[in-house]
Amino acid sequence: MTIIHEEVKKRRTFAIISHPDAGKTTITEKILLFTGAIQIAGSIKSRKSNKFASSDWMEIEKQRGISVASSVMQIEFMDHILNLLDTPGHEDFSEDTYRVLTAVDAVLMVIDGAHGVEPQTIRLINVCRARNIPIITFVNKMDREVKEPLEIMAEIESYINMSVIPLSWPVGMGKNFHGVIDLIRNHMKIFKPGEDNLKQTCEIIYDINHQKLTNYGEDYKKAISEITLINDAMPKFMYDEFINCKQSPMFFGSAINNFGIKELLNALIKYAPSPQSMQTLQRLISPYEEKFSGVVFKIQANMNQFHRDRIAFIRISSGKFTRGMTLKLTRNKKEVKTNNVVSFLSKKRSILDEAYAGDIIGIPNHGTLRLGDVLTQGENLQFIGLPFFAPEIFQEIESKNPLRVKQFRTGLKQLGEEGAIQIFKPINENIILVGAIGNLQFEVIAHRLKLEYNAEVIFKPTKYIISRWIMSNNKKAMEKFIKLNSQNIALDVSEAIVYIASSKSQLKVAQELNPDIKFYTMKEYGSNEIY
Ligand code: G4P
Repeated sequence: MTIIHEEVKKRRTFAIISHPDAGKTTITEKILLFTGAIQIAGSIKSRKSNKFASSDWMEIEKQRGISVASSVMQIEFMDHILNLLDTPGHEDFSEDTYRVLTAVDAVLMVIDGAHGVEPQTIRLINVCRARNIPIITFVNKMDREVKEPLEIMAEIESYINMSVIPLSWPVGMGKNFHGVIDLIRNHMKIFKPGEDNLKQTCEIIYDINHQKLTNYGEDYKKAISEITLINDAMPKFMYDEFINCKQSPMFFGSAINNFGIKELLNALIKYAPSPQSMQTLQRLISPYEEKFSGVVFKIQANMNQFHRDRIAFIRISSGKFTRGMTLKLTRNKKEVKTNNVVSFLSKKRSILDEAYAGDIIGIPNHGTLRLGDVLTQGENLQFIGLPFFAPEIFQEIESKNPLRVKQFRTGLKQLGEEGAIQIFKPINENIILVGAIGNLQFEVIAHRLKLEYNAEVIFKPTKYIISRWIMSNNKKAMEKFIKLNSQNIALDVSEAIVYIASSKSQLKVAQELNPDIKFYTMKEYGSNEIY
């Protein structure tokens, strides 16, 4: 085995997805505490005490007490390297969340046991399924009155359209939460409330047939009969089914009490796949290849007010990165220097000397690197798979100050190229439309245009509510369609043609009348394909 092979095999690159308040931040913090990456609880984020971690990088986040941008943490645990990519945890989430999912090999789905599956989680699960990213499920807050575990299971299954296979099962809930039964080892781990039981020596574990467990009376009996039911009715957990997104292993616990975190970490190491191959337009890239290649999946500006730069987040797809190596940006064949590459932990940025496939590195730059860009040691590769989704909300945008129009245009174009917002220029109207997945994206760009380009903006309501990228194999049909529908045609930031409609029925009629034209809700960055 080569060193690259060994290093890649050790890596697990994953993200946590959940509905806001399900416990993502708490789990992240407990993972960091458990693995020794941080020492003090509360270092990640404490909204009530107004303390913010350095991953909460924008002022706007401080004002709102939410984490807008995703950060990256690298953790060492049991001879493995875990790369945890954070996803924004607010309802108003943005496209960034989707794109982060293109850079992970597995996902940890956290569900609040009292609320079950919530809308934001469903959207993210659909993206995971479309991209074949395996999902590990954690039902949190078992120390509260939650839904019946069987009900939660059925609910998850019906929403995510795959089997959830419990690998642990709770005994009781709320005030009577007694612990979980490990269904692989057939023992019960006793729940002890309290935040400090991080040391494994505090664990109390009994074999499933131990006398003492009868102390838990009806709750225990109920759990055992539910387990019997599950064993009879459910398929067994199969690794291949998990990898192919047909099954999701499920665990129960209470993050705030650090209960169930160790099992989660073990599951990540045992089941989550090591870095996977990446599809490019030219060929499939194996992570074990000697030569370096990587993709920019996220751009973030002003991460630190003292470094007024932007950082391109790159997921290494193959090989080894060594600081100082010269890389080629395949879009324009230019060289990119890497003396200053940074790795991330939530507490600080640190300079990175080497990294392997599966790791995330950050290259500070002034706009040279764009979303979807590929860096290699020379080979010409084009990444396919960084998605742009048709926005769900639109507004018109204007410069507040007519004397700053130039700065406004430059800034908006750059933010569009960065993927912070989508921009549409109707061909027949003198307006600029911006489209987003969540309202917060509008706030973020207004804030950034002011801060970075000294350009204040005004938003105005627009009649447009839907956009679709359009393509056709029939050139004549396409030309005719554009001519006849010029009132509803716009160009996006990369000049791709977009149909914009002011109602669903308008879009429907356009689709029905023009079978030769294909309307797409998603555009893959870097490919010519739109689907
Ligand atoms: P998020 O990142 O998914 O939005 O959730 P976060 O971890 O911030 O947790 C949301 C709330 O749920 C927090 O309470 C947190 O303490 C609580 N919580 C997390 N895990 C558990 C658990 O296992 N059991 C119980 N009972 N509560 C849990 P908060 O009052 O909103 O904020 P805070 O002051 O505790 O930070």
